[in-house]
Amino acid sequence: MFNLTNKSVVITGGGSGIGKAIAILFASQSALVHILDLNLDAAKQTAAEITDKGGAAFAYKVDVTDQQEVLELIRNIGVVNILINNAGIAHVGNLEHTEEADFDRIYNVNVKGAYNMLYAVIPLMKANGGGAILSMASIASTVGIKDRFAYSTSKGAIYAMSMSVAKDYMDDNIRSNTISPARIHTPFVDGFIAKNYPGQETEIFEKLSKSQPIGRMGSPEEVAHLALYLCSDEASFITGNDYPIDGGFIKLNN
Ligand SMILES: NC(=O)c1ccc[n+]([C@@H]2O[C@H](COP(=O)([O-])OP(=O)(O)OC[C@H]3O[C@@H](n4cnc5c(N)ncnc54)[C@H](O)[C@@H]3O)[C@@H](O)[C@H]2O)c1
Repeated sequence: MFNLTNKSVVITGGGSGIGKAIAILFASQSALVHILDLNLDAAKQTAAEITDKGGAAFAYKVDVTDQQEVLELIRNIGVVNILINNAGIAHVGNLEHTEEADFDRIYNVNVKGAYNMLYAVIPLMKANGGGAILSMASIASTVGIKDRFAYSTSKGAIYAMSMSVAKDYMDDNIRSNTISPARIHTPFVDGFIAKNYPGQETEIFEKLSKSQPIGRMGSPEEVAHLALYLCSDEASFITGNDYPIDGGFIKLNN
């Protein structure tokens, strides 16, 4: 089950956290994994962990905000059966603490980056008879989270973008879904805690952990297992949907 032999997989932000866990798990299921990241060393590190265990992986330095860069790379890769739109960045702040530059930065990576990937990959998938797309949304796509104005806006867009693609390309045998994680313990979470709450790291980590009724943050590997199912042929009836993975955050926080 969930075998990915002969599948060419492109993962953005595969050098860290959730993307890295997805790259490693998919490679263990025999996929050929293409790891795209702004941080080439991190992408190479993920690829090395895969190839050391006999898997197949390539690392590339790519800024997903740069359409030409994305188009050229995807043209060179040539075949994409599975796309994981995962690269994303955070900004903590309500509307009044979101400067234009903050909004543009979040929008460019989280929204335009995903659009650039889809723009490059969809024609290849169409020509190749189909494919599966998974984009990383968030609980912030559908729930009001304090002080996440720009980030929530961007993740709402990811959710809508994924639905739009699911509808438009259903006849091309392309499936498109999103995963909406609550807090997952990755460098992303450690980074925004360190940046925004200096001196209060332990307290804020505890608070964020407890915000999941299950009492902890999730792990990147837990998200990767859901991603594997959704991108596998076993999930062939699933498209145009969002899958929370949230320790009860959305429905049990009462
Ligand atoms: N960790 C969480 O709690 C959480 C919760 C919900 C959603 N998400 C989403 O999951 C995704 C992955 O999050 P993570 O926690 O693994 O983050 P992370 O910071 O650990 O990893 C993100 C990776 O994306 C790369 N990246 C950033 N900007 C890029 C760009 N312009 N071009 C190419 N690569 C770029 C980074 O170099 C990094 O390797 C993000 O979209 C995030 O919004 C995370």
